[in-house]
Amino acid sequence: MKTIEIFDHIYEKSLMAVLVVDQVEEAVNTSKALLKGGVSVIELALRTPVALEAISAVVDHCPGMLVGAGTVINPEQVESAKKAGAHFALSPGLNTNVITESNNYDLPFIPGIATPTELQLALEFDCNCLKVFPAETIGGLPYLKSISEPYKHLEVKYIPLGGINIDNFSDYLSFPEVIAVGGSWLTPRALIKDKAWDDITKTAQKSLEILGK
Ligand code: 3PG
Repeated sequence: MKTIEIFDHIYEKSLMAVLVVDQVEEAVNTSKALLKGGVSVIELALRTPVALEAISAVVDHCPGMLVGAGTVINPEQVESAKKAGAHFALSPGLNTNVITESNNYDLPFIPGIATPTELQLALEFDCNCLKVFPAETIGGLPYLKSISEPYKHLEVKYIPLGGINIDNFSDYLSFPEVIAVGGSWLTPRALIKDKAWDDITKTAQKSLEILGK
């Protein structure tokens, strides 16, 4: 998939579920439940030993799911994520070595930012689609509106994550610069542990209903 197609898909779908899994099957079953509910973009965080294997399994067994490797915090993980089959990658923060390596591997990368200084560094490295993390804690939508104002003419796009839930996500999406929102409200670990796949599907459906999708 081309980079532009990946960003278009994220924009079109609006919602990104954040997954942290301890077993490969959890990732596959959760992804199937999400797809059933209409959510087709995930961030699968590289925070557990099975994460890379889980990315490969979702890519292989869940056609239609766009899979982002999350918590990519060093260049080595870029190579691993690419080899695992991830379609794109994200990070809570901004590491210029990771950006450079993502370019080397042709892996679309969405760095995380929380301040204007980080935002400008991202722009210097030609990243103009940015994860805003931790969105709610740093001031929510009012904060995002403030920091984005000086860069409006550069058409920077944002994906807020962190503290976003079913009650506040649509507010973020009403801001035109926000192309999508993400979070674990779509895939709480407790539901994954309980194998509550129907509940995950229902939360996805309910979230899309709120969006009128
Ligand atoms: C992330 O990796 O983006 C966050 O863990 C998601 O934050 P949330 O759990 O508050 O949704």
